[in-house]
Amino acid sequence: MLLCDGSMGGATIGSMNVRVDAPLQAYNTFGIAAKAAALFHVQSVDDIRAALDSALWGSSRKLILGGGSNMVFTRDVDAVVLKMEIPGMSVVDETASDWIVQAGAGVGWHDWVRWTLQNGYPGLENMALIPGTVGASPVQNIGAYGMELQNRFHSLDAIDLRSGEAFQLDASGCGFSYRDSVFKHLPQDGGLKSQAVITAVRFALPKHWRAEVAYQDLQRKMDESGVRAPSAQQVFDWVVDIRTAKLPDPRDVGNAGSFFKNPTVTQEQCDDIIGRDPHVVHYPLGDGHIKLAAGWLIDACGWKGKTVGRAGVYDKQALVLVNRGTREDPVTGGEVMTLAKAIQTSVYERFGIMLEPEPEVI
Ligand code: FAD
Ligand code: EPU
Repeated sequence: MLLCDGSMGGATIGSMNVRVDAPLQAYNTFGIAAKAAALFHVQSVDDIRAALDSALWGSSRKLILGGGSNMVFTRDVDAVVLKMEIPGMSVVDETASDWIVQAGAGVGWHDWVRWTLQNGYPGLENMALIPGTVGASPVQNIGAYGMELQNRFHSLDAIDLRSGEAFQLDASGCGFSYRDSVFKHLPQDGGLKSQAVITAVRFALPKHWRAEVAYQDLQRKMDESGVRAPSAQQVFDWVVDIRTAKLPDPRDVGNAGSFFKNPTVTQEQCDDIIGRDPHVVHYPLGDGHIKLAAGWLIDACGWKGKTVGRAGVYDKQALVLVNRGTREDPVTGGEVMTLAKAIQTSVYERFGIMLEPEPEVI
C-alpha cells in the first residue's frame, strides 16, 4: 500500500521510502541533474516484493540503480527506479580451497573490499577503490589491475521482476566476459537486463592467497619500493595510490570512470594501426586477438584536457570524461554524449576503430 507522508513527493510502501518526481543528481557520480518518475529506496528483499505489489509498479518501465557510477542520464527517467541499499557482509561457507563470503547488493564496493581484508580474506585487493555497489559488480564484470570479478565470483541471488521469484546464478549463468554479462543484454537477446535485480553476491576467496602483481603499474610499485612479496594490504594500498593519481574522485570532479571500452582487434587490424602510429599501446590476448588502450587512442588524437561546453576530457587519463560544470549548473548528459561522439569520430578517422561506450546511457 502506498502512503503519502505529506512531505514533497515523499511516501512509504510498507517500510520502504519512496519519492515521486525524485531528483537524481546526488545519485550519479557524473552529477548530472535528472529526475525519476519514482525512486524506491530498497533495503531488503521484502522491499522488492512490496514494490512489485505497489500501485506505482504497474506497467511502468524499471531502472535498477546502484551507486550511479556507470550511468549517464540524458533525460529525466520515466521509470520506477529501484535504488539498491540492501546491507550485510558475512562469511557464509568454506570449501577446501576457498572462503565463501557474501555481501548485500547495496554495500559499497570499496567498503566490501576493505571488510574482506580486515577480516582476513584477501583476494579482492586489486579491485580496491572501484566506485559503486556490490550488486552492480557482476553487471559489467568489473575489473582492474589484473583482476576481474569473474576470477573471484561464486554465485549471486536475484529476483525476477516479472514473477517475483527468487533465483541463484553461478558464473556460467552470468555469461561473464570483458565488461559484460547477461545483465547487460535484454531478454529478447537472451539476457536479464531490467528483468532481474541482484540482491546479494557471493565470492570465493582463496585460502592460499598469492599476490597478483603482473599489471605494469603494480610492477612499477614493486620496483620503486623494493618489496618483492607484498601482502594483500600492500597491494590494496598500491592500487589506491595508483588510482588516486590518475582517476578523478567523483566527489570533486563528476565522471563515470572509463567512458569507452578498450577495443579488441585482429592482428591484421593491429598491423594497420601500427602502420599509422608505431607507438600504439597494445596487448596480445593470446587467442590471436589484440587489445588496444582506448585512452592512448584518444590521447593520440589530442583530446586530453579538452573541454566542450561543460563536458571535458580528464587531463590525467583521456579515457575519462568529466563534468566541468558546477553543482548548480552541471554538465548535461547531452553535452557528455556530444563530446563522446566527437571523440568516436576522430578516433575512427585516424585509426579506423569505433569506440564503444562503457557506461549505461539513459
Ligand atoms: P550503477 O551505475 O548504478 O549501475 C550500473 C548498471 O548496473 C546499470 O545498468 C544498472 O541498472 C545495473 N545495476 C546496478 N545495480 C544492480 C543490481 N543490484 N541488480 C541488477 N542490475 C544492477 N569499473 C570497472 O570495472 N573497473 C574500474 O576500474 C572502474 N573504475 C571506475 C572509476 C571511477 C572514478 C568511476 C566513477 C567508475 C569506475 N568504474 C569502474 C565503473 C563503475 O564503478 C562500475 O561499473 C560499478 O560496478 C558500477 O556500480 P554502481 O553501483 O554505481 O552501478
Ligand atoms: N594511456 C595513455 N594516455 C591516456 C590514458 C592511457 O597513453 O590518456 C595509456 C597508458 O599509458 C597505458 C594504457 O594506455 O599504457 C592503459 O592505461 P591504464 O593502465 O590507465 O588503463 P586503461 O586501459 O585506460 C583500464 C580500465 C580501467 C581500470 C584500469 C586498470 C577499461 C575500459 N578501463 O583502463 O577501468 O581501472 O584499466 O586495470 O577497461 C572503468 O572501467 O571505468 C575503469 C576505470
